[in-house]
Amino acid sequence: MFTTALAQRENTQLGELPLDLFAAIQSLKKELNAVILAHYYQEPDIQDIADFIGDSLQLARAAEKTNADVIVFAGVHFMAETAKILNPDKLVLLPDLNAGCSLADSCPPEAFATFKAAHSDHLVVSYINCSADIKAMSDIICTSSNAVKIVQQIPKEQPIIFAPDRNLGRYVMEQTGRDLVLWQGSCVVHETFSEKKIVQLKIAHPEAEAIAHPECESSVLRHASFIGSTAALLKYCQSSPTKEFIVATEPGIIHQMQKLAPDKHFIPAPPMNNCACNECPFMRLNTLEKLYWAMKNRTPEITMSEDIRLAALRPMQRMLEMSV
Ligand code: 13P
Ligand code: SF4
Repeated sequence: MFTTALAQRENTQLGELPLDLFAAIQSLKKELNAVILAHYYQEPDIQDIADFIGDSLQLARAAEKTNADVIVFAGVHFMAETAKILNPDKLVLLPDLNAGCSLADSCPPEAFATFKAAHSDHLVVSYINCSADIKAMSDIICTSSNAVKIVQQIPKEQPIIFAPDRNLGRYVMEQTGRDLVLWQGSCVVHETFSEKKIVQLKIAHPEAEAIAHPECESSVLRHASFIGSTAALLKYCQSSPTKEFIVATEPGIIHQMQKLAPDKHFIPAPPMNNCACNECPFMRLNTLEKLYWAMKNRTPEITMSEDIRLAALRPMQRMLEMSV
């Protein structure tokens, strides 16, 4: 694949890779007193070497609690940035600094500041998939696992802006009966699933249950018998008596699903085109090789100004308090 070729080129430039990459990473972990936190969308090797795997909320909590000196974040930029917001004195490494997020990019700070100014009496609830600059302009952060719970705790008369994901925002509106002002951002991966192909799969596998992440469009969500964050989807397919699932989220999570429910069958929901665009191109920029080099060279590091960090910390703390 393109990213592997790129990694190989970068690796050659950086030096010789050890033969046993797993052992070398374990030894660097001890040397640095590091913890490896990984998201469910990472490649299987990274998930297997991580100290902790989770959804965005679980990863933020793990970053808040860790005693390690170095956090190696195997995820995308906004996730590593969140770890830095919570841990200003720790070294936070991201294996590939280009591992961004289309959803975070769909909400540029200047345009959002104008939008916010046009709704000055509104409280800003932002999905964690946004930059530190957007977090700094927000009142409360949420993730896909606590968005409904957080909005339900806000007094009914308080108008709310929900940013940046319009699909999660619409889902929260349906679940809470609240009228939210939505920023029109979205995720390229979760908008790629084909309703038609999911319906065809359901016909071909009548026993299968479709499950979906709330970042999917409503045309996909309407076919799902369960909607939840990556951690919630994982938990659901373990507890449900169903043996076969059509999974409408990034297929990296199927590695954990198969590990935790080996007797079940997981079918990735297909994208509209015959491409691999249901794989997050940003998450997949991280490789085991790049993770090794990041630890070995202690770079690329996540940094941000202290003003932005402090402003972004406040809504993060509100989220952690409101989702205990
Ligand atoms: P989760 O919080 O469900 O892990 O979602 C993160 C994400 O980026 C979904 O696209
Ligand atoms: Fe961002 Fe979408 Fe990738 Fe999640 S799957 S990190 S929302 S681009």
